[in-house]
Amino acid sequence: MCGIVAYIGHQDAFPLIIKGLKRLEYRGYDSTGISVHDNGLKIFKKAGKVAELESSVEELTIKASVGIGHTRWATHGEPNDRNAHPHFSADKSLSIIHNGIIENYDTIKKELLSKGYTFQSDTDTEVLITFIEDIKKQNGGDLEQAVRSALHAIEGAYAIVILNEENPNQLIAARKGSPMVLGVGTDEYFIASDATPIIEYTNEVVYLKDREIAIVNREDFRITNIDDVEQTPYIQKVEMKLEELEKGGYEHFMLKEIFEQPNSIADSMRGRLDAANGTLTLGGIYEYSQALINARRIIVLACGTSWHSGLVAEYLFEEYCRIPVEVEYASEFRYRNPVIHEGDIVIAISQSGETADTLAAIELAKSKGAIILGIVNVVGSSISRVTHEGAYLHTGPEIGVASTKAFTGQLSVLTMIALSVAHKKGTITQTRYKELLVELARIPAKIKEVLDNNAVVEEIAERFKDAKNFIYLGRGYNFPVALEGALKLKEISYIHAEGYPAAEMKHGPIALIDEEMPVVFIATRDSSYDKVVSNIQEVKARKGVVIAVVTKGDALIPALADYIIEVPPCEEALMPLISVIPLQLLSYHIAVMRGCNVDQPRNLAKSVTVE
Ligand code: F6R
Repeated sequence: MCGIVAYIGHQDAFPLIIKGLKRLEYRGYDSTGISVHDNGLKIFKKAGKVAELESSVEELTIKASVGIGHTRWATHGEPNDRNAHPHFSADKSLSIIHNGIIENYDTIKKELLSKGYTFQSDTDTEVLITFIEDIKKQNGGDLEQAVRSALHAIEGAYAIVILNEENPNQLIAARKGSPMVLGVGTDEYFIASDATPIIEYTNEVVYLKDREIAIVNREDFRITNIDDVEQTPYIQKVEMKLEELEKGGYEHFMLKEIFEQPNSIADSMRGRLDAANGTLTLGGIYEYSQALINARRIIVLACGTSWHSGLVAEYLFEEYCRIPVEVEYASEFRYRNPVIHEGDIVIAISQSGETADTLAAIELAKSKGAIILGIVNVVGSSISRVTHEGAYLHTGPEIGVASTKAFTGQLSVLTMIALSVAHKKGTITQTRYKELLVELARIPAKIKEVLDNNAVVEEIAERFKDAKNFIYLGRGYNFPVALEGALKLKEISYIHAEGYPAAEMKHGPIALIDEEMPVVFIATRDSSYDKVVSNIQEVKARKGVVIAVVTKGDALIPALADYIIEVPPCEEALMPLISVIPLQLLSYHIAVMRGCNVDQPRNLAKSVTVE
């Protein structure tokens, strides 16, 4: 949540920061602001998106080669101009951008109020910068030391960058719990929440660690920890391509990412799956691979869509590896004193690698001796760094707020891990193992086939775009897909939708069925096919409208359902990789037809770094 960008160097800072903020807008888009040093500190900020700020300051001639910018997902204070970042300190000698939450801001604020300070906003951030100003005044004007002292006193999470009126040649940045990357150019430096605003200028970056402070000057930088111990920066190369951050001719990132899936799945398998020779190599899980094979149980920790892919993993690991799996919402797990044994295996799944609840749940499990394996998309993200080992998705940056290609990337990686464990453990026959590998290698082509059916899905969307509610039903491997289909629809089209195991319908949701209720069945040919047919009949008997995702060639369900979407035949365990595609398309088209902002749905943000 919240994106931060800062620059110091020889380029024009304002447009550079605007461009960077646009790349980070997926992290929050309630308000935008920039502070620059242009004959003194100035702040330009506004509720709304980056483009609104950009157009509102078009007339001005800003000349600055140092600046800080912020795109906000509101936590403290409503998203208006006043609460937008950056914030000045009380005497306007410092300005700050902040991603995170200062939990004890209220106590500090009271103290500052008692000293006569006043505040212009309702934010915890303004309290922090005023606190720093106050300490700086007392310590003889040493900003670096003041930042250090303030950070010792605050509780919570932060990624901050501070600009100082007295010193236009320096930025001070620090992080704890919120991500921060420093881009190292030639006589110029970039600071951002992730590498996306940076890679256009340099691919050399330093991922700041928790409790580190970067003192960035025009010609050099140094890193210390908050106890003022000098740290050796590890400069690494990022391998992101600029084209991956553009829409590439698609109307929305979400559509681009849906259509990228044949390639992104292939990328997730590249160098790992060799179906012809019947081998699977997951280089990222090496030291702990035997522990995984011997695991008495696996705990999966995740949130949202990633939690849904964890549910599919439960089916996979139980069926093929015979290892019991518990799939936990990270946010619940961390607050309920869970039973964790030394050596338990935890699989943490996260697209962004920054989700605060998942991160905290990992720390808890780790503190009790669990082995943490991460399934993460964003390279170098916080979760990828706190896990013992893991596997990246390699599906490329996902910009659309609603997760699509990361979900299928997670399924692909989890399937490979499960099959690899099953093979090593001997809980799968060699023949079956090879069959599944061959089938896995065919998934990209099958997804392509589903995408070729886009027009059919679009027609169905036209028919249901004004529906008030939707129910999604599936069984077995397709149950998590039903949950995911419902989540996709509600988050981008704001239509209320529920996902259920199809058989659970009769225990309650069936009361909702009438001629107004669209019911999406994920009803592909698998071991529960006959049961799902009965569930469809139950809905039809109550005049529900059935949209069914069926296996190509099925004759029975098309005769019962009102609308059908065909997908190619596929192994049951791999079907979620395919059956979710039409549901992604359905939610996309409905949202577009309803005029919703598909890539930036209201109230949401791509990485949820608050608890
Ligand atoms: C839904 C969606 C969210 C995320 C959730 C976890 O489309 O994207 O539900 O899946 O916020 O995020 P990550 O995977 O980044 O931990």
